[in-house]
Amino acid sequence: MKIGIIGSGGREHAICQILKNSNKVTEIFCFPGNAGTANIAENINLDFNDFENLKNFILEKEIDLVVVGPEKPLVDGMVDYLEKFNIKTFGPNKIASQLEGSKIFTKKLCEKFKIPTAKFGIFYNKLDAKKFIETINFPTVIKADNLASGKGVYICNNRKETHVAIDEIFDGKFGDAENLLIEEFLEGEEMSYFIISDGETIKSFETAQDHKRVLEGDRGKNTGGMGAYSPSRLITEELEKKILNKIIKPTLNGINDLKTHYKGFLYAGLMIIDNEPFLIEYNVRMGDPECQTILPKLKTDLFEIFMACCNQKLNEINFEWSNKKSLCIVLCSKGYPDTFKKNIEIENIDKINLNSDNYLFHAGTLKKDKKIYAVGGRVLNLVSLSDDFKNCKNNIEKNLDKLNWDGGFYRKDIGYKVIK
Ligand code: AMP
Ligand code: GLY
Repeated sequence: MKIGIIGSGGREHAICQILKNSNKVTEIFCFPGNAGTANIAENINLDFNDFENLKNFILEKEIDLVVVGPEKPLVDGMVDYLEKFNIKTFGPNKIASQLEGSKIFTKKLCEKFKIPTAKFGIFYNKLDAKKFIETINFPTVIKADNLASGKGVYICNNRKETHVAIDEIFDGKFGDAENLLIEEFLEGEEMSYFIISDGETIKSFETAQDHKRVLEGDRGKNTGGMGAYSPSRLITEELEKKILNKIIKPTLNGINDLKTHYKGFLYAGLMIIDNEPFLIEYNVRMGDPECQTILPKLKTDLFEIFMACCNQKLNEINFEWSNKKSLCIVLCSKGYPDTFKKNIEIENIDKINLNSDNYLFHAGTLKKDKKIYAVGGRVLNLVSLSDDFKNCKNNIEKNLDKLNWDGGFYRKDIGYKVIK
């Protein structure tokens, strides 16, 4: 079978590598992929935002299954478009993708189906938003409604910070903004919970905790994710039942009410307060780097899972997972998440020790004349599986020492809550 993968990050390299393990997969095309996928698949330099051009390529190469990694093409309706041409595509359609594309869509759904989440208000202009701020306690959370790659969220500790947030959002920092959300600040511990669904059957796709801030101790600017570990230390059978019954199932019922269904990964960003889950946000895809952390634990054939999802036969698949712990550290270019230099060579990649418990997934890399160059902010993901998180971290750090890349940096405290 021939596969197409949309995206170029660590998540997509991980999907590519795990799919490659399936004896049913013969060929993989990555749109556009990175230096890691270049070694195991064919990278296709084509603008996937041009859906028609993408569709023509897929039909010409007779690709059997397309897997969409990132959120933007999902929110823009790539799945709806490709399915019109009978191309099997793994990922939610445009209506369902509003769960990530519009925070207000999700909040309204939470209201209608009584899904636990932070109290909120929607504001349509600066004046009303600022008037409301006079009446509330701090900290408070202000969010742009649209897709902002994790950057449109402000945790404000005083009135001045709220005014900056309101002005920046309405002045178009995250694209045209007709409204914003002001939310109650929830204090607890975060956890990411993943499911996969074919529209009828829901299967758990494990838990993780990521570290979004750039500096050690979870301080500094928000990033795409500096590292992650799986499972979350919070998950229990009882908590999982609550997450499914109070959050996931009512959400998918809400999508069914819109005369459609949810097919793909669904990532719930949760705040756990006194063993009760509250929804912070949905993402309609796997997390990055959570995907790199979770997929190496999967023992079931990923290709079979994706196909079963597209054919509404997920109930026939028996999921098997390794019991090992998994940890991922992200190596970034110096300067990230602000400006950083591009096209810096990474020399010692061959020295990294890889085996069935130790993985390297590329993110912002490019292969040119057999050399690997860093071209993005997040560059490499090192993942290790072991019986305890401390060993995972030690194994990764040994590999990072071997790599000894002076163009980059990484957080040395990934997993500090689970490593004594
Ligand atoms: P989001 O993009 O909505 O996931 O928000 C990014 C991050 O902001 C989350 O991972 C949380 O750390 C934090 N956050 C968002 N909403 C809230 C909230 N209501 N209370 C506390 N923290 C929040
Ligand atoms: N790791 C956070 C995300 O993928 O959105």
